[in-house]
Parts: sequence; C-alpha cells; structure tokens
Amino acid sequence: MSDFPSFPPGFVFGAATAAFQIEGAADEDGRGPSIWDTFARRPGAIVGGDTGDVACDHYHRYREDIALLKELGVGSYRFSVSWARVQPTGAGSGNKAGLDFYDRLVDGLLEAGIEPAVTLYHWDLPQELEDKGGWRHRDTAYRFADYTRLVADSLADRVPRWITLNEPWCSAFLGYANGLHAPGAREGTPALAAAHHLLLGHGLALPVLRDAGVREAGIALNLDRVVPATSGPRDVAAALRAETQRNLIWTEPLLKGRYPESEDDTWAELLHDRSFRRAGDLDVISAPLDFLGINYYTPSVVRDAPYRDPDPLTRQADDNRFEGIGMPQARHTAMDWPVAPHTLRELLAGLKERYGDALPPVHITENGSAEHDLPEPDGTVRDTDRISYLDGHLRSVAAALADGVDVRGYYVWSLLDNFEWAYGYSKRFGLVYVDYATQRRLPKDSYHWYRELIAAQG
Ligand code: FCB
Repeated sequence: MSDFPSFPPGFVFGAATAAFQIEGAADEDGRGPSIWDTFARRPGAIVGGDTGDVACDHYHRYREDIALLKELGVGSYRFSVSWARVQPTGAGSGNKAGLDFYDRLVDGLLEAGIEPAVTLYHWDLPQELEDKGGWRHRDTAYRFADYTRLVADSLADRVPRWITLNEPWCSAFLGYANGLHAPGAREGTPALAAAHHLLLGHGLALPVLRDAGVREAGIALNLDRVVPATSGPRDVAAALRAETQRNLIWTEPLLKGRYPESEDDTWAELLHDRSFRRAGDLDVISAPLDFLGINYYTPSVVRDAPYRDPDPLTRQADDNRFEGIGMPQARHTAMDWPVAPHTLRELLAGLKERYGDALPPVHITENGSAEHDLPEPDGTVRDTDRISYLDGHLRSVAAALADGVDVRGYYVWSLLDNFEWAYGYSKRFGLVYVDYATQRRLPKDSYHWYRELIAAQG
C-alpha cells in the first residue's frame, strides 16, 4: 500500500505502551507490588497463568526500544509510569531508583527527538492502597494527586503531554463490578463509587500538573460507538443505556460538570446515588482539559435484553438490559473484535454534535489490533490484516478532521507485543513482534508500513 492517508502539518503520530504490560523487573530497585501482580497470581485469572514479572523486559531494554521508536519516526511515545515503582506503598516519599528509570527513559526519548507523553495511571494501583479499600475509597483519589506531584516534580520540565488516567471504565467496572481485571472484585454497584473516585483523582491531579507547568493535560477514555441493533424503540433505548454506562458516565462529569440522567428507572437510581459524592466534587472533576484522549478499537451493536442479574453491575457490565450482538458480517481480529473503521469517525462526529465547543481537541491515544502473527523463518512478520486495520482507522480519523473535529494526534497500540491483561501473552498487538523466550524484537510489516506513512507526510 503506497497510497497513504494524509494529515495536516503538526499532526502527531505516536505509539503507546503501558508499564505493567512491558516493563517486567517486578521486584527490582524497590518496586512495590501492584494489584496486577497480585491478581496475576490468582489461579484462573490470566490465560496461561502468565504474569508481568518479566514481560518485555523493557526496564532493561528501554534503550533498544527507544531505538525502535526512533527508526519508526514517531513524533511522540506514550508510556505509563508504574505507581508502585516510584512510590512502592502508594504513600510517602518517592523511590529514587524508580523515578530515575523514568528520568533516563525521558532523556533517551528526547535525545532521539521523540516527545514523551506520560500516562500516570494505567491500572496498576499499589497493592497497599487496595488493601485499604482501593478506588472504593475516597482517600485513594488524594493519594493519586500526591503521587502525581511526585512524578511531575521529576518529569514535568521535560514531558509536554500528560494523561491522568487510562480508561477509568475498565478500572471501575472490570476491576470492581465483574472482576475480570485487578483487583478482581465482583461487587456490582460499589463500582460506581470507584468510578467517582477515579474521576475525583483525575480532577485533583489536574491542578498539580498545572502547578508543575505542564503544557497539555488530559485523560484517556475508552469511548464506545454504540449502534442500536434495529431502529425499534426498545433497541434504541437499550443503546442509550449502553451509551450512558460506557460513555456519558465519564464525558458528562468531565465536560459538563454533571452526571448523566437516565430515563431507565434502575439506572436513574444508580446514577443518583450520592452517598459517595461531596459538594464541589463535580467542579473539581470538570476542570478544563487541554485534550481528550480516546482509545478506540471496535464498536458495540446492542439490543434490548432482560436483566440477567438483580444487581445490574455484578456480572458482565453489559448485562444492564442491553447486550452486544456483534457484527457477524465484519472481519474479526484475534480478540474476536469486529473491524469497522468507519465507526471511529461516527464516534467523533457524535461527540462533536453532543458537546460542540465544549469538546476539547482530541488525541486518539490508542488504536490497533491483535492478529495471529507468526514470524517467517527469515524473521519477517507479514501482518497485512493489521496494516489494513490501521489504514482504515487512520482514514477514519482523516475523515473526522475533514468533518471539522479537532483531532491532533494518533497513537498506535502498541509498539510491542506485550502482556494483554487477562489474556496474558496470548494476544499480540505490537508493531514489533516480541519473542518472549529470547526477548528478540522483530519489526512486523505494519511497523515498516507505519514508518512509511509517517515519512510520507513530509
Ligand atoms: C486497552 C488498554 C491497553 C490495551 C488495549 C488492547 O483497553 O488501555 O492497555 O490492553 O486495550
């Protein structure tokens, strides 16, 4: 493919990773345990019993990984800081060795001409904070702001773009409602308290970042493009419930300083549970963002469904009287996710329509696909499906720009194959193949394709 989509001057092309998924070195230099270390040891929690102990060994191989980024030609690299590496118990003074690692990483990136973009929280809460209640507990939001200060004091002079939280939907609902992610709690509605405390933590971290003089601060949400299965009123209402639970529960407080309303009785009741909210919280949460990060992979086609559980949040977060029916006609990735690139443009258009000028500039902070990659004997990986996935989604972003949505950048998930949470190492999202037995990195065809696409922008 030589005919690349084109983007305006200054558009940021990047690649993304997250600490727990690549770093390894779980016990080194004073790092404390995080909820993902604990969860990975729970029998049956992770495919193959995989852990993050070694992962891509990026902690030791970061120089090699920076060289891969440089060769790729990305303008920005999004990585996350492991809270437990820099503040092992989630409170108190910092761990110098841990902070030094990110210091070296940032300097290495800048030397390579790459702008670092830091995510402060990509799901790996220090275990000690979980033992005190985790995100169910309001104090965790204040701990997050303190930790933010620690990292900002060390890196804000050199890191222009900051993301407070990655996908708080996953932290709250997969973590505390259905237990598919760490800490593996299946508690149902208390997950709404976790959602609120995550938002509060974000809001408390913003002024800390501003004080430290950072240029751009935002948050990365996994927003869903929800499509009703039919135009019938029951499915349309189900789609609205899905949209409330997936998207509006985040975008309304962040962009409008209010929680969403719902015409559905149970949801209305849940959303109006104020027991964990305090006066002024929504003002903190809705402080202006410099950008909204959107992680996007696949749409949800939903239809009306009966309640399957008396507590609508306990089982799948999807069981709230709506259910996904998939897209049988679409190609599916190795995650079994339907590929429908045009839905990214639709999502962005819908946000613009709903929020107008209240929608900040957007960065697509993650997009990519897991495929059944297999290296050839000569070390090449012919991942044409990933190339067409990325090509389609980048064209969709270009179309959104033409529609008038202010999209400033796009980060491929991911630079490297890595620890894909509950799927362990069984799913590969990288532009670069990782042979976990030897830690050899093999750039896939998609890596070369992305390099050419970036170079073609001139
Ligand atoms: C997102 C996560 C990221 C990665 C991709 C595939 O939900 O933010 O860490 O696992 O999905």
